[in-house]
Amino acid sequence: MSPSSSRYGKVYLIGAGPGATDLITVRGARLLAQADVVLHDALVTDDMLALAPQADKIPVGKRSGQRSTAQLAINQLLIECAEKYRKVVRLKGGDPMLFGRADEELQALETHGIDVEIVPGITTAFAAAAATQQPLTKRGVARSIAFFTSATAPQHADELAMPDSDTLIQYMGGREAVVTAKKLIAQGRPLDLPVIIVENCSLPDQMITRMQLRDLEQGLGERKGPVLVMIGAAMAARDTES
Ligand SMILES: C[S@@+](CC[C@H](N)C(=O)[O-])C[C@H]1O[C@@H](n2cnc3c(N)ncnc32)[C@H](O)[C@@H]1O
Repeated sequence: MSPSSSRYGKVYLIGAGPGATDLITVRGARLLAQADVVLHDALVTDDMLALAPQADKIPVGKRSGQRSTAQLAINQLLIECAEKYRKVVRLKGGDPMLFGRADEELQALETHGIDVEIVPGITTAFAAAAATQQPLTKRGVARSIAFFTSATAPQHADELAMPDSDTLIQYMGGREAVVTAKKLIAQGRPLDLPVIIVENCSLPDQMITRMQLRDLEQGLGERKGPVLVMIGAAMAARDTES
């Protein structure tokens, strides 16, 4: 069946980038302006949604504690939207292929033979590296990076091993800060290892906090916005004294 004769429209999985409206790709913005409906995550801002004034908007942010049920409902909604609309945009924070449940959504869409296109976005780690002006790799200091999370199994966070890469970028790590720090210290990482916390990256209320691993062990307290935890020797402030 050719795409035009399918009973389904086409679904675009688009990365919105870290938050700032001008950090979505040109392709993503163009597709948003053509969308019939936009299903969006909780972290997608109103300014970003204003790029699709013509489209119906459906918020599908998940409530914590109901993740799997919520994901099944989102998968179903995507299929229903593809039946009803020709251009369906599924807009996800950062890049859709990183910690974005894209696998479940792709599987649901593929099962129904629905045409899908993926548009990459700037993941928070790269936006945070830019915001802090800290390259994630550094010659002679850091040659490997791990993007990781404990949120895939929060009830088992204590059992998960830490990656042993030079630079560690933890997504959804605000609440796990104490456990993360304790594990890294147990792994032999130094107490004075540089850590940077970036909250609300790229947004007007962005906040950057520099600390050391020993401080991370005290926890991050309650944070309102999304938080990215960056750990490693490459996060050390540059010595610019001549
Ligand atoms: C479900 S994950 C989605 C990651 C996204 N796909 C990406 O590529 O950035 C959500 C986590 O990403 C991080 N995050 C997303 N947007 C952020 C922002 N603007 N500032 C800081 N962290 C952010 C936080 O760790 C948050 O808990």
